[in-house]
Amino acid sequence: MQPVRATIQGLGVCIPTRILTNDDLARMVDTTDEWITARTGIKRRHLAEPDQATSDLALIAAQRALAQARVAPDDLDLIVVGTATPDMYFPATACLVQERLGAKQAGAFDLLAACSSFVYGLITAAQLIQSGGIRRALVIGAETLSRLLDWEDRRTCVLIGDGAGAAVVGPSTGNAGFYSGSVGADGSAGDVLKVTAGGSRMPITADAIERKLHRAYMDGQAVFKLAVRTIPTLIRRTVDRAGWTLEQVDRIVPHQANLRIIDAMREQLGVPADKFEVNIQEYGNTSAASVPIALWEAVEAGRIREGDRIVLAAFGGGFTYAACALIWGI
Ligand code: UT7
Repeated sequence: MQPVRATIQGLGVCIPTRILTNDDLARMVDTTDEWITARTGIKRRHLAEPDQATSDLALIAAQRALAQARVAPDDLDLIVVGTATPDMYFPATACLVQERLGAKQAGAFDLLAACSSFVYGLITAAQLIQSGGIRRALVIGAETLSRLLDWEDRRTCVLIGDGAGAAVVGPSTGNAGFYSGSVGADGSAGDVLKVTAGGSRMPITADAIERKLHRAYMDGQAVFKLAVRTIPTLIRRTVDRAGWTLEQVDRIVPHQANLRIIDAMREQLGVPADKFEVNIQEYGNTSAASVPIALWEAVEAGRIREGDRIVLAAFGGGFTYAACALIWGI
């Protein structure tokens, strides 16, 4: 049997229509448009409506990706939802999406690697396809992190947006597809970004709510340093394993957490600024949805074209990180 190469056959996104600008936030907490813009690059973010759960965003992104790929739900063998904000503990959000899509032949599971979840999921799906285990997968990054924020904490609430992005992954017909992927983690840095209460260690009690332990906590500077220390090396390794040089890479799509982090990575790598996809000004940090939304925008705008060599790279709570190198096309 000829070994298959997996590739992305279609993309779709769901961007909530409700917009929260920096000026809106300045009326809610002690912050300013100037501070947020200078420190993060963010100008606005999109938030899910109160009645929209993560699976609602994921479903729309999934339907659009399937339509673009011209793949029927019945042709899916696997659905992976990367999310840190599932609809509920269980069933998995992937099972909720599977049911609503009518993807009766598909297995379904959630994957939690925080902001790295989508890239972790892509690498997992590509490996399963390339090993012959499955033929076609739907990988979704979907988040409603706005639900976990402390809207009185200016250090975190200004950074986040909601959204979803999905990719249909299947066998390539030519040279396009995945050439390398690496995942990593540093559990010793787990405390820098976490939601303490709500799990088996500390259920949500009145005391936990009083202490806001059910809300997202972040040591921003620590995450910043970890990202800048880890991601350039990860990108170099991923490009190297693909058998390419950095100069051959046409576009890098990084996790959109902070424009300053992207700039620092770019400087370390010595890659021209216009090779990096940046849309943080419009969406903020949408966690697992950030890479697929940025990838979709780049493709729609023609900044990524068939045959281009691209790298996707993400990092997030855990501390987790993941990157993959692919040639764009089906
Ligand atoms: O997806 C992965 C997860 N997240 C990240 O990757 C985030 C990584 N970290 C960051 O993006 C940055 O560290 C932040 C944007 C979170 C913070 O930027 P910073 O340059 O590291 O600022 P800082 O934490 O050192 O705070 C500087 C000052 C502080 O005041 P004092 O102590 O100097 O008086 C903060 O209290 O800015 C203050 N500050 C704010 N001021 C206005 C913090 N947040 C705000 C705010 N508006 N929203």
